Amino acid sequence: MRFLIALALLLGFPVAALAGTVSSPDGRISVTLDADGEGIPYYSVSRDGKPLLAKSNLGFNFTDADPMRRNFEVVTEDSTSVDTRWEQPWGERRIVADRHEELAVTFRQRDAAARMITVRMRVFDDGIGFRAEFPEQASMKVANIADELTEFNLAQGGQALWIPAGDWNRYEYLYSMTPVDAVSTAHTPITMVLEDGTHLSFHEAALVDYAGMWLRRLDGTRFRSQLAPSSRGAKVVREGAFTTPWRTVLIGDGPKALVESNISLNLNEPNKLGDVSWFTPHKYIGIWWEMHLENSSWASGEKHGATTGNAKKHIDFAAKHGFRGVLIEGWNKGWDGTWFGNGREFSFTEAYPDFDLEEVTRYAAKKGVRIIGHHETGGNLGVYEAQLEEAMALYARLGVDAVKSGYVADAGGLIAPGPDGKDVFEWHDGQRAVQHHLEVVKTAARYKIAVNPHEPVKDTGLRRTYPNWVSREGARGMEYQAWGVPANLPDHVPNLIYTRMLSGPMDYTPGVLSLKGRGGRDLPSTLARQLALYVVLYSPIQMAADLPEELEKYPRELAFISQVPADWAESLLLDGEVGKFALFARKDRNSDAWYVGGVTDSDAREMAVDFGFLDQGRKYRATIYRDGADADGLADTRHQIAIETRTVTAGDVMTIRAAKAGGFAIAIVPVGR
Ligand code: NOJ
Ligand code: CA
Repeated sequence: MRFLIALALLLGFPVAALAGTVSSPDGRISVTLDADGEGIPYYSVSRDGKPLLAKSNLGFNFTDADPMRRNFEVVTEDSTSVDTRWEQPWGERRIVADRHEELAVTFRQRDAAARMITVRMRVFDDGIGFRAEFPEQASMKVANIADELTEFNLAQGGQALWIPAGDWNRYEYLYSMTPVDAVSTAHTPITMVLEDGTHLSFHEAALVDYAGMWLRRLDGTRFRSQLAPSSRGAKVVREGAFTTPWRTVLIGDGPKALVESNISLNLNEPNKLGDVSWFTPHKYIGIWWEMHLENSSWASGEKHGATTGNAKKHIDFAAKHGFRGVLIEGWNKGWDGTWFGNGREFSFTEAYPDFDLEEVTRYAAKKGVRIIGHHETGGNLGVYEAQLEEAMALYARLGVDAVKSGYVADAGGLIAPGPDGKDVFEWHDGQRAVQHHLEVVKTAARYKIAVNPHEPVKDTGLRRTYPNWVSREGARGMEYQAWGVPANLPDHVPNLIYTRMLSGPMDYTPGVLSLKGRGGRDLPSTLARQLALYVVLYSPIQMAADLPEELEKYPRELAFISQVPADWAESLLLDGEVGKFALFARKDRNSDAWYVGGVTDSDAREMAVDFGFLDQGRKYRATIYRDGADADGLADTRHQIAIETRTVTAGDVMTIRAAKAGGFAIAIVPVGR
């Protein structure tokens, strides 16, 4: 092949179509994948002929073998084209298009071991994904990976929106917007707006039996992968043939390309669970916010929140207002000590004496409501794994078909049984945790149970393969608004939209209509913004987080929350700016209704809603929930809301003002036919 390329160049033939280079279907993105003069495998990316990622090296270090870094030669190059569509059982859109060009280059190291590696590169119109594939090879039966040497060498600077990796609070930080060359070590997704306006977001897809990837800035605008640590030393241990997760770069002219990208899902394997119609996207309430307010406790005793009586009160509320689910935290034994980062006392099958699980689930069934189970582990993987089968079997027997789990432990503080049975400590995104989560998801699937882990590993699109992995936390959620340590700032939601939310659904738990946290602290939000959150933050399970008695004080807003779908046929970012604001339109999966949601940061701003997404020639009734004229999410007027109804058609454009820390929501229902 080398010889052919040289010959083609000599004869003046164009070489772009030859292997070694691969372009996106629209031709705008072009990727080179090759080995340099020292035999270092590398790739580079250009867009519209302009360098985007300059030469970026690829390789691996091992704890017990020579590095795979230099002295490689290319042995084979294969290209394929894919243009297909597939359907999501639930999601932010029903039909997903997968259109990409692929180039797979196999490299062989020029030494006695002659180890091989294939780098598979897929180029879409909205970005790239590539992974390394290790064949089964006698010279390396077990790969003990010390670190992965994948570089992302940006050809220009810009601004980056990111949170730090490798520190104590997992993924739960406020985001920083800094120059690209001021990033230290970041979690992915990390999103950048380059000097020329190009938008990029770096992440990974299909993180299976491997360590999560952090991005460490080496110098200037050059980044390198750094894998999450492991107690074993080697960050990844794999036997035989295996592949790394896909390293992804979303690329667009603006934020729309990033937000609407399907690259992460497309790089995951198709559904392995078959028919998953047993999972129904839904909304839920819970015995939850009251604990975060410290009105009640997870622990047993006088303040115990999860009593049979309190559960029934919540079930009654859910039945009355059309919520399918009631989450109950703190019903099981183990909360009475230092469970945080410990979890040794948790039982996932035994209830406290004042909680009757059989009676509560029976009562719920009678009312047409489902209990959502809870498995807080305190970060103790071993204690949970030992009870996993029994715990899921119990819930399944009682009709509990969704479980929220929790891994409350400082980063690096997950507990797992080591090789000699003694505890070892792991990271929330290390290989051990990655293995654990998938084991839980697969076990839950056997019992037709959906899972929603908090303090999880990041989302890498595995919901495509395991559609019972429905949501997760993995960022600062609403609970910080209760604690105020500090509270999430008004730009946090726009920041999430352009970073964390690019990875997949989040159980943010919106719907605190009282706008009050612990001790009566005011939330930095308007009332209308709470409704907007159901549209702008996608999750197939959405909580109405506030206390039932508070929710009932806002009947019109509560009616919106019961009505807003949690499953969509299509999702569009109509307008937005990274870290500042976002305006979404989403079409209901089960009707012809559309919903619009807009959120801003701490600046009030006007957003123009162009209804061009509606069916031409059709009339719709739009109910608009917007900030009142004097509303201010950062002042005493935060509850001021204006609710009005108008007729709209595809030709209309409506300008709506969002207050500081404000937002709006619109329910758009077709009128007649
Ligand atoms: C942290 C979770 O994010 C929160 O939702 C839960 O209530 C607590 N852990 C207790 O499990
Ligand atoms: Ca949490």
